[in-house]
Amino acid sequence: MALGLSDTPPWLHSRFLYDDIGSRLFEEICEQPEYYLTRTEAGILEQCASRIREATGPVTLIELGSGNSGKTDYLLAAYAAAEPSVRYVPIDVSEGILNQAKDAISVRHPTVTVTGVADTYERAFPLFKEFSPAMVLFLGSSIGNFDQRESDVFWQGVSDALCPRDFVLLGVDLVKEESLFNAAYNDAAGVTARFTKNLFARINRELGAGIDVDAVEHVAQYNSEWQRVEIYARFLSRQDVYLEPLDRTIAVPKHTMVMTEISRKYDLEKMKEYVRCFDFAVKEVFTDERQWFGLLLLQRLPRKSADQR
Ligand code: AVI
Repeated sequence: MALGLSDTPPWLHSRFLYDDIGSRLFEEICEQPEYYLTRTEAGILEQCASRIREATGPVTLIELGSGNSGKTDYLLAAYAAAEPSVRYVPIDVSEGILNQAKDAISVRHPTVTVTGVADTYERAFPLFKEFSPAMVLFLGSSIGNFDQRESDVFWQGVSDALCPRDFVLLGVDLVKEESLFNAAYNDAAGVTARFTKNLFARINRELGAGIDVDAVEHVAQYNSEWQRVEIYARFLSRQDVYLEPLDRTIAVPKHTMVMTEISRKYDLEKMKEYVRCFDFAVKEVFTDERQWFGLLLLQRLPRKSADQR
């Protein structure tokens, strides 16, 4: 988890942000007034859920990183209104959150059968074919937290795992005025800062590292050349980070900027071209009035050879 601290430049993988405390902090981020992503995407889903249902027909809904399944409620309602029974397969690493979501859904949508999968996305890919016809939901612009290589591996994996004509509903945060990003990732209440700092508190909890978390500062800035928000932890003093399981100490000099996360922002036309490389056609694009966020409905194209095997 912490070995990237000794790399040049130093970094930590963003997946480690999401322990129980980090996942709760992320839910709190979604409620901050500056963090428009969740509300904007939910607004589009509320408006467009029945059009999405019309475009896909009856499908099993498979959600990657489903969390509390909050925004998915609009889709579940639209699918449940159109067919006598619906299958929903939320996939999340947290079993606790899956159970909570399942209980809430069984009350609100009794005709929806929930089959939760407590695992990482990649390990769940082999299940996709048995749920076909299906639509994979990848919402919240979570794709933006992948670097280019991770993104390529992800799309190849999803494309191989789906049957021809299955769907993906992808949520992406769109390129826009820079100040909106800087505000969204530096909320006034300091929740995003706590989210970043929790990564170091987690390293202390799990690896006995003894980091002075008060001497770690959250820094988030938009890089317009790379079209991404970059999030760093700046060390305000030199720290010797002890990794108990390895019995190794990493010296982190004062002023070190440790990259903890990227959040890429997208241009719709480029995204359409990109997914085409993985045999997906864009069936429809839904956005909000301000064009801040996009939902792309993709359909897996049949391949000439490989799909027959
Ligand atoms: C989960 N993901 C899409 C969030 C984002 O906006 O990139 C994570 C986040 N990090 C800080 N604020 C939100």
